[in-house]
Amino acid sequence: MKEDDSTQVTLNQLQVHVKDMKQWQSTEDFAGRLEDLKTLPALYRHALNELENKIDVVKTEWQVRDGYSPIEHVKSRIKEPKSILRKMERKGHPFTLENMEQHIHDIAGMRIVCAFVKDIYRLVDHLCVREDLRVLEIKDYIAQPKPNGYQSLHVIVAIPLVLLEGTRWVKAEIQLRTLAMDFWASMEHILYYKFDKQLPPHVAEELKEAARAADELDQRMLRLRREILELSEGSRGADKLAEE
Ligand code: GTP
Ligand code: MG
Repeated sequence: MKEDDSTQVTLNQLQVHVKDMKQWQSTEDFAGRLEDLKTLPALYRHALNELENKIDVVKTEWQVRDGYSPIEHVKSRIKEPKSILRKMERKGHPFTLENMEQHIHDIAGMRIVCAFVKDIYRLVDHLCVREDLRVLEIKDYIAQPKPNGYQSLHVIVAIPLVLLEGTRWVKAEIQLRTLAMDFWASMEHILYYKFDKQLPPHVAEELKEAARAADELDQRMLRLRREILELSEGSRGADKLAEE
């Protein structure tokens, strides 16, 4: 019941914001498609729940099989209505439900924080072979960090929701990061807004340097892990290394 309440709040906010925005007030789409608009937030919430459950199963399986799960923690969120509208405006898409579904990939968003970089690729490989979701796009900002130093791997997926009307594929964005990348991204986000999105050049440069330090930390941890595995007694450590 609580879930329904929060969905309702989201819907109300969306209605208020759409009314607020003059350029969209006149679009017939909003008034004419109210029913669709009512169901959308709930669809994204359900899709995210399904995705959370899938990842939870993977996490448990890894834990049972290997004694440790490469997934450190998972966070999910539904994008604020205000942010959806702002993003559509920024990207120049007129507000229609079709545009919203087609162009805003991160209405349902999940962040998966892993211990090691290689765990991220293992998890993505796994996502790619699953039959119960579709990987639509992969953006690898680990192999190719953003100019400001940002690192993460973004995967856009579509999750099937079986409804009375049939199956509907709902998009979600999964961001995969290491703990070090997550720390950097969180700090960068705080600073970015602290400086009103105008970072002084020396701050930007230091942040870039900090991103390199985070990367170095990740690599160092990976080396330590390898060392520990090599030192671990019995065939278990060797087996694991051979898998990698
Ligand atoms: P958006 O329109 O912002 O979604 O850009 P995009 O569609 O090209 O997506 P992209 O994959 O670049 O980024 C999507 C999300 O990744 C953002 O909404 C942030 O959550 C995160 N992100 C991307 N770049 C940065 C960054 O430089 N710093 C931080 N802290 N987060 C970022
Ligand atoms: Mg995006």
